[in-house]
Amino acid sequence: MGEEQGQGKKIVVVSASGGVGKTAVMVNLAAQLAQRNNSVTVVDADLSFGDTALALDLQPDDTIKEAAERKDIDNIQAYLMKHTSSVKLLPAPLRPEHAELISPDFLEAALNKISHGSDITLVDTQTGLTELNLRLLEAADQILVIGTPQMAVLKNTKLLLETLDLLGMKEKALLVINKFISPTAIRAEEISDLLGVETPVYLPRDDKQMDHSLDQGQPLVLNSPKLAFSAEASKLAEIIGFDTGQQQIKDKGRGILGRISLKGMKRRRMKNESIS
Ligand SMILES: Nc1ncnc2c1ncn2[C@@H]1O[C@H](COP(=O)(O)OP(=O)(O)O)[C@@H](O)[C@H]1O
Ligand SMILES: [Mg+2]
Repeated sequence: MGEEQGQGKKIVVVSASGGVGKTAVMVNLAAQLAQRNNSVTVVDADLSFGDTALALDLQPDDTIKEAAERKDIDNIQAYLMKHTSSVKLLPAPLRPEHAELISPDFLEAALNKISHGSDITLVDTQTGLTELNLRLLEAADQILVIGTPQMAVLKNTKLLLETLDLLGMKEKALLVINKFISPTAIRAEEISDLLGVETPVYLPRDDKQMDHSLDQGQPLVLNSPKLAFSAEASKLAEIIGFDTGQQQIKDKGRGILGRISLKGMKRRRMKNESIS
């Protein structure tokens, strides 16, 4: 379709568990992609409790809710707010009860329209595989799956990746393990084996700085570019900005279940803990 011409890349950020850092990673990625001269728009599709505006220190007046009420697809650009980094944002509704006023059809149409005017459109989501999220994932050129190195999160992330595989979307998924600390009870190669992804992107944990930056509404990569988190996030931006960012999937012979079991990892972890 001619209309599709000039459409930028759509990247949807998802996770199986909450609090893993979808919003934190996304705003930092957005700021870095903007620094590399991409026009970047963020769509906050966490329609009930979206906090991207807060993370960017923006105080929305109109949001996607007002745009949906007015069916204002043609003017959707007018609802975008601009951060000092030049990242633009379509904010989530201000109240959770307004979430249901935004239909999946409207959101998808808004996303398509916005991505015509942006090199990269990043979409933040509510945790989990909701119907809306599945719709967004289908529309995505790339899916950023965010997890953390905790047993329960890894278990759910594995299920999420399996589901993406079943839906034929695994090829466009890029796995990011956020809040990574090394040495840790669960080693990087164990995570890689378990999740069946050769080279996940690891983003380090930085409790003090990350919380502070989100509270200040300034992405960490802008205020503290020398931090380990910023350096690693920069590599992620490079992967996303310059190629399709595909990761190598581990030996598919045994399927995506990977070669080691959660139980085995748990046993090893307990052994390590009792030694130290
Ligand atoms: N790399 C990190 N290091 C330390 N804390 C982090 C990191 N990434 C996110 N956080 C913290 O984790 C919490 C949840 O992050 P958030 O982005 O809101 O998660 P989600 O959007 O997935 O629910 C926040 O307090 C945030 O500061
Ligand atoms: Mg969030």
